[in-house]
Amino acid sequence: MRGTIFNYTLFFVAALFLLSGCSPVSAAEATEFGEFSAEDFAYESKCRQCHAIIYSDWEGTMHFNAYLDPFYLEEVKVASNDTDGLVDEFCSRCHTPIGVVSGEIPPIDGSEMSDISKLGVQCDFCHVVSGSNGTGNAPFIVSPGDTKWGPFDDSRSTYHDSEYLELYTQAEYCGMCHQVIHPVNGLVIDDTYSTWKDSHYGEENVVCQDCHMTEGITEFEANPGRAGSGAPKRDHISSHDIVGGNAFIPPMFGADNIAEMAVERLQKAATLEISAPEIAKTGEEITIKANITNSGAGHYIPTGVSEIRQIWLEVHVTDRGGKEIYSAGALDENMNIVSAKMIYNNVLGDSEGNVTLSFWLADRVLEDNRIAPEETVTEEHTFTLPEDVEYPLSVETSLNYRSAPQDLIDHLLGEETQVPVISMNEVSSTIYDPATPPEERSEESTPGFGIVPATMAIILMMYVFKRK
Ligand code: HEC
Ligand code: HEC
Ligand code: HEC
Ligand code: HEC
Ligand code: HEC
Repeated sequence: MRGTIFNYTLFFVAALFLLSGCSPVSAAEATEFGEFSAEDFAYESKCRQCHAIIYSDWEGTMHFNAYLDPFYLEEVKVASNDTDGLVDEFCSRCHTPIGVVSGEIPPIDGSEMSDISKLGVQCDFCHVVSGSNGTGNAPFIVSPGDTKWGPFDDSRSTYHDSEYLELYTQAEYCGMCHQVIHPVNGLVIDDTYSTWKDSHYGEENVVCQDCHMTEGITEFEANPGRAGSGAPKRDHISSHDIVGGNAFIPPMFGADNIAEMAVERLQKAATLEISAPEIAKTGEEITIKANITNSGAGHYIPTGVSEIRQIWLEVHVTDRGGKEIYSAGALDENMNIVSAKMIYNNVLGDSEGNVTLSFWLADRVLEDNRIAPEETVTEEHTFTLPEDVEYPLSVETSLNYRSAPQDLIDHLLGEETQVPVISMNEVSSTIYDPATPPEERSEESTPGFGIVPATMAIILMMYVFKRK
């Protein structure tokens, strides 16, 4: 074990050496570790005085939580241990950027951190970004102080100077952090930016901000208003409730509103279609076919730490008496997914080819089962109808999303923390006895949840965070 860490260390040092010498962009151009002190940055409470709406949008989001997120804090401890502290600065650069540029991390235990560094990805970090050296692994340049950079070229404030920077309106801004590359072996761990770039959204320049910082979820929708008190009315100001699919962490910080928005977003991300026979005889082999399309996301679903996220189809076929005839993708008593046809995520392997969720130890992709933008994947469920069924049969399917496998969270945060399972879409249909005349078969296919807001309440009831 010791040997592995030692080799890892050597590799890491060698790789850093090579990177700093050979890469066209030298690391010195990006903001360096410890270049500033925490006092150079302003507290978000200062910004809130004039930007109250933007503040309340941001509060409780995953950017607000980026450091205090208990899932992150536990994982970074493990990662730090596994690598003898070599990843401390690397991980922290995105999760507490002020902590890194002010030299308060390492130590990774947070003992040297000031309060402001714990506020994750915040106002006076994002708006003092004065440039970048491309995308991936946080190559930001920051210039804390009187000037706030942003999307307007005519902005005035009594408190600060304003400077326009086109980067704020581009996907490359987000791509600084939403593209993670293993610092030693170059394996791309998070490819949200590059998969966006290669998609039709990238080609048409539908940027991250269009879907994540406007009223629209799958396209730009203007949000007219004022960006601050005393500011002029504008046709569009950006929403700062930047949400993805995470409905797990925000409620831990009291932000149920953010979780609700994440559920709504997940329900616009994919469509589900199923085809099942309308009639079937006992003893007959039945096939249910499901088509799942990534219809709304500008990148793969899932994306980000997609080796940890899980999307899968749950299928239940029951007869009139409620007897289960077929099931796939249900959860067992330990909340493990049982016999799903596919878990749509990617599977990373360590240097020995063993599956790992510890992406800092990964050096290869064993399988990539995510769904690309606009791609449709198909799965088939086949079973034989037993002799003793009571017709009609109901077929119920749900496309589910979970931020992490329950057993990983049990291990890191304890068994009382339950990861919510969110239904992205549901479709059902009915299979009749061939003897039933067609006029007595009521067509019962239901559309997905995404377009039936009344069902939202039911899904939100699934938010049981404490398993009792
Ligand atoms: C993850 C980085 C990020 C964080 C955190 C963030 N902003 Fe922004 N902000 C942006 C980007 C990017 C834009 C421009 C979006 C566009 O125009 O497409 C923006 C735009 C703005 C604008 C211009 C008006 C508007 O809404 O378009 C103001 C003012 C602003 N932010 C203030 C704040 C304040 C105050 C906070 C903290 C409560 C904050 N921002 C947090 C990235 C961030
Ligand atoms: C005294 C009130 C006040 C305070 C305090 C304040 N702002 Fe502003 N800010 C404004 C006004 C007014 C505007 C102009 C908005 C417009 O042009 O529509 C503005 C504009 C901005 C812009 C847009 C700049 C551009 O060119 O696109 C950003 C970014 C911004 N503020 C960030 C911040 C941050 C970060 C803080 C906290 C460190 C902060 N502001 C504190 C009043 C304030
Ligand atoms: C300084 C680095 C940084 C920048 C810049 C940044 N992000 Fe993030 N973002 C993060 C981190 C770190 C997290 C995750 C925090 C966590 O999970 O604990 C995150 C989380 C998110 C999430 C929530 C994901 C989920 O699972 O729900 C979305 C959506 C998101 N960012 C979009 C954006 C967009 C859009 C931009 C550009 C306007 C952007 N981010 C800019 C670092 C950044
Ligand atoms: C066409 C609209 C669209 C565009 C463009 C888009 N997104 Fe998303 N994004 C979504 C939807 C819908 C979801 C919810 C599905 C999901 O969570 O995978 C999402 C989810 C996410 C998540 C959470 C991922 C997960 O699976 O948990 C992150 C992080 C994110 N987006 C970041 C970005 C970044 C960064 C960009 C730009 C490089 C971007 N998005 C561009 C629509 C978009
Ligand atoms: C280049 C920026 C970057 C680096 C470096 C980085 N992360 Fe992240 N991390 C992110 C972003 C962005 C997300 C959100 C992705 C999403 O939700 O889809 C994230 C999400 C996570 C999550 C999921 C949190 C949740 O609540 O779902 C964990 C855990 C995590 N990171 C741990 C780490 C560890 C440990 C390291 C170092 C080995 C690390 N990260 C390095 C940007 C980064």
